[in-house]
Amino acid sequence: MNYTLLKEQFKNKKVFITGHTGFKGSWLLLILKELGAQVRGFALAPENEHDLFNQLNGAQYCEKSIIANILDVEQLKKEIIAFQPDYIFHLAAQALVRKSYENPIETYMVNTIGTANVLDAMRSLPNACVGIMVTTDKVYENPERGTAFVESDKLGGYDPYSASKATCEIVIDSYRNSFFNLQDFNVHKKSIASVRAGNVIGGGDFSKDRIIPDIVRSIQNHTPINLRNPNATRPWQHVLEPLGAYLLLAAHMHQHPEAYNEAFNFGPAIDDVLTVKEVTQSFISAFGASQQEIAIDDKEHVHEAKLLMLNSEKAKLKINWTPKWNATEAIQQTAWWYANSQIEVSERCMAQINNYFAS
Ligand SMILES: NC(=O)c1ccc[n+]([C@@H]2O[C@H](COP(=O)([O-])OP(=O)(O)OC[C@H]3O[C@@H](n4cnc5c(N)ncnc54)[C@H](O)[C@@H]3O)[C@@H](O)[C@H]2O)c1
Repeated sequence: MNYTLLKEQFKNKKVFITGHTGFKGSWLLLILKELGAQVRGFALAPENEHDLFNQLNGAQYCEKSIIANILDVEQLKKEIIAFQPDYIFHLAAQALVRKSYENPIETYMVNTIGTANVLDAMRSLPNACVGIMVTTDKVYENPERGTAFVESDKLGGYDPYSASKATCEIVIDSYRNSFFNLQDFNVHKKSIASVRAGNVIGGGDFSKDRIIPDIVRSIQNHTPINLRNPNATRPWQHVLEPLGAYLLLAAHMHQHPEAYNEAFNFGPAIDDVLTVKEVTQSFISAFGASQQEIAIDDKEHVHEAKLLMLNSEKAKLKINWTPKWNATEAIQQTAWWYANSQIEVSERCMAQINNYFAS
């Protein structure tokens, strides 16, 4: 990771983050503080008292922490235009596949219309601005053919979450063609990239229906861990991997605003593949809870992809990004975070940030 470049490009810069109260957003606040940026956040309030944002008192890392709905386009525009950010990181989303089956319309509204709202606010912004629009590895049509997705692969989406994010990609592309076209760069001065990363793990995720929080809850409550899809594989990566990648891409875009207006995959190495069951076993061993019982839940469940892999060659070629921690290291770092609750939360996060970025 080119930490010098990040410092150069973010020091004293204004960064607007949507979704700053979420899991990735909270870690991003800490990194941007280290880089010396000035941050304004826009998101709903954290759902739970113990969410990472609350534990960190995340508002202290923001020049202003706005608690509001991304569907309130007038307020969103007002805040973005008043702040005149150099960068926008759009993370706000209904980010859970299973919840998207319960609330498909809300998922489409928040994810797709929310993204359009951010892009439209950028349209009204007079200054130069780099936009990093966070989608996901799940934007691809997935026939489970066993090869890794490249950015030019067909978009699709079986479940409402995946479809809502694939739709984001189409909206982003449309804004790029219609309003932020490279031909008119000197007029609009906007650069937009979409970023597709894999399943993220790391300390401080307390979401429902995600593997690591589910394991941690089972260990703490002395109940068996129920695995829904034990043989499914995912591009597991530590939360610092995609965040480092988003920042590195944004820094390159700030330097060369006409060069990177496209989609980027940021996944682990293709051969760094673990199943849900392997991740679980590895986590409980690193946590020191080897006696923990694992149960296979073979009831009928909503459809979730079994096989997902990303090809990140383009990121390597264009911005020299490669993952730093493999899946095993990511699991160990994550287990260390949860197992050492006697160490203050921000200290645990900062130790990992320094370890990741400084080495
Ligand atoms: N965590 C993962 O494994 C993963 C993988 C791929 C992509 N992503 C994407 O990364 C982004 C961040 O994910 P995360 O894990 O931090 O999710 P999260 O659920 O922890 O955080 C979501 C954030 O979005 C905000 N938000 C939700 N609805 C909103 C609304 N109506 N108005 C304003 N803000 C709203 C929440 O308040 C929160 O700040 C999302 O776009 C997600 O789809 C996550």
